[in-house]
Amino acid sequence: MPTKNINASTRPYYVAVANEEQVFNAAFRQGLSILLKGPTGCGKTRFVEAMAHDLGRPLITVSCHDDLTTADLVGRFHLNGGKTEWVDGPLTRAVREGAICYLDEVVEARQDTTVVLHPLADHRRQLPLERLGVTLDAAPGFCLVVSYNPGYQSVLKDLKDSTRQRMVAIEFGYPTADVEEKIVEKESGIGHEQAAALVRLGQAIRRLETGGLREVASTRVLIATGRLASAGLTLSEAARAAIAGPLSDDPNITSGLNKMIDVYLPTS
Ligand SMILES: Nc1ncnc2c1ncn2[C@@H]1O[C@H](COP(=O)(O)OP(=O)(O)OP(=O)(O)O)[C@@H](O)[C@H]1O
Ligand SMILES: [Mg+2]
Repeated sequence: MPTKNINASTRPYYVAVANEEQVFNAAFRQGLSILLKGPTGCGKTRFVEAMAHDLGRPLITVSCHDDLTTADLVGRFHLNGGKTEWVDGPLTRAVREGAICYLDEVVEARQDTTVVLHPLADHRRQLPLERLGVTLDAAPGFCLVVSYNPGYQSVLKDLKDSTRQRMVAIEFGYPTADVEEKIVEKESGIGHEQAAALVRLGQAIRRLETGGLREVASTRVLIATGRLASAGLTLSEAARAAIAGPLSDDPNITSGLNKMIDVYLPTS
């Protein structure tokens, strides 16, 4: 599981959309845990990277999935040449080092796994290591950050109320048009006019009222489109490949998206 030391380097590029940086800073200083909610590709991961940089903390990220066990987070004994030795999991490392621990898509993890977060997420800031028979106090600077996408939420996959209520929530949406233009321009290297056209297309797709699309066009797919255009494709070829294709497998919806691309990104 990766530890990212983003402190020696320049600040990861992140443009604040509302007061998310202030809320994160205040929660960090008060030792509160943070829940980031928002659709895919709206900047949650980049935001945490920028905050870790600003606060001078290492960042340890765990992508959650339904096979993730408490031992994967906390640690386990390994056999090493006939001896057993304990190896810390990423959560335990973060607790010892005072790092920011980012659990991405936390609802994917089983509820019996997330229960280990409870004493850490509230005022106790403690991690019990049952297998070792010890309880660790989180080092100063430790901060638990979890994210999830409410759009994917199902009855089976929801965060327990007792977990949610231990956290401060920050809601993310897609940035406003002028901010998103800047982001697309900067991240993909295309010109301002092209970035503006892509953002108009993205916003039109977000306004569609169709049950057919699981997710609308994210900032991420607009950036990917811009990058294909930077590599020599026309904007509309790029958008077919990076927006229409990934968004849907349904031929009717794809053809509707392609028509929108022709309207918003004319080739001539
Ligand atoms: N406010 C922003 N400032 C700078 N870049 C942004 C911003 N919002 C989105 N981006 C860009 O959008 C892309 C996707 O962002 P990111 O990977 O952080 O999304 P995410 O919300 O973590 O998505 P997922 O839920 O799929 O993990 C990145 O390339 C990032 O640069
Ligand atoms: Mg992410």
